[in-house]
Amino acid sequence: MPAPRALPGGEPEGAVSDREDDGVLVGGRDRVPLSGRDRVPLSGRDRVPLILDVDTGIDDALALLYACASPEADLVAVTCLSGNAVARDVQRNTRAILELAGRGDVEVAVGREVPLVRALEITPETHGPHGIGYADLPEPRAPLSTRFAPDLIVAEARRRPGEITLVTLGPLTNLAIAVLMEPRLPHLLRRWIAMGGAFRVPGNTTPTTEWNIHCDPEAAKMALAAWQAAIVADPGVPRAVLLGLDVTERARMWPEDVAALAARAGTDNPIVRFVDDALRWYFEFHARYDGFHGAFVHDPLVTAVALDPGLARLESVAVDVDASGGLADGQTIADWRGHWGRSPNADVAVEVDSVEFLRRLVERMGDLAASRGG
Ligand code: BDR
Ligand code: CA
Repeated sequence: MPAPRALPGGEPEGAVSDREDDGVLVGGRDRVPLSGRDRVPLSGRDRVPLILDVDTGIDDALALLYACASPEADLVAVTCLSGNAVARDVQRNTRAILELAGRGDVEVAVGREVPLVRALEITPETHGPHGIGYADLPEPRAPLSTRFAPDLIVAEARRRPGEITLVTLGPLTNLAIAVLMEPRLPHLLRRWIAMGGAFRVPGNTTPTTEWNIHCDPEAAKMALAAWQAAIVADPGVPRAVLLGLDVTERARMWPEDVAALAARAGTDNPIVRFVDDALRWYFEFHARYDGFHGAFVHDPLVTAVALDPGLARLESVAVDVDASGGLADGQTIADWRGHWGRSPNADVAVEVDSVEFLRRLVERMGDLAASRGG
């Protein structure tokens, strides 16, 4: 079926009755991407209270900078876990990056340092020996929070029911523990949006599996089951929003983008230097394994969509995770044809406006860097 033609406002002509939730369009397969639609300034709610759950990580680092650079982001806290690097490096990187961005005031907490049942795996060949490529940041001054990350997530969600957007950019261990502690978490969050999975594309860690899910498939399965149960009990509960490799591998940064950043803020600038040093490693990794001298920037894309859902087109579907230990271990399985007869528990991204996203990433990080001086 040919895709419907986009109307000037971004709405496709003759679209079937798709649901619009909180700025996210969900529905028919042939919807066009929403380019332009959410460039309309946010009104009313204006700022989005965010908790980022990270395994920093080069692209997690860019996501943190993007959040710090975005006026509509109200960064409530950042929670950390092992993934790209061990939790000790992840929390240190995270605090150092927040300080670099002038946000040393943001609470940073660590959760469980190993997956629920699997052995810990990290990926220094992708993200460098300590998670931030060739970059080296000063020891952060702000102390680490004394709160346990899943406790923090639950406490903030209970304190502000229906307000917090939780953005998970690493394995789902912290979230799984949080839903064990508070099964009503899906009711209490405004939205959970995750970088995770590979739906209609191959995996980046095994033939069928994406890294964040691969690291802790049991946790991913538990989190998605919690959303499933909550939605069955109350169909008004917002579905999980999942951005897998299908869309995040469309968001690529290139050396020219780093040059554009430097042109905005100057080369003798701490943020530009950090981005350059971190991305140089990531570019080399992608040149070696993916055949292009650039980098997929998964996590800032997901953060951008959390702040502006109009950057993505989503389809609602029931999603589960294979944690059987077999060939497809860690695969995110989406039941596109409804074989299981389950209610959809997720809205899976099938299109993103990667051009607009990249423009914003360079512009916002560049302006932040310029404001932080040389
Ligand atoms: C995900 O895995 C990590 O390497 C990245 O930070 C991203 O969150 C992509 O598969
Ligand atoms: Ca990550």
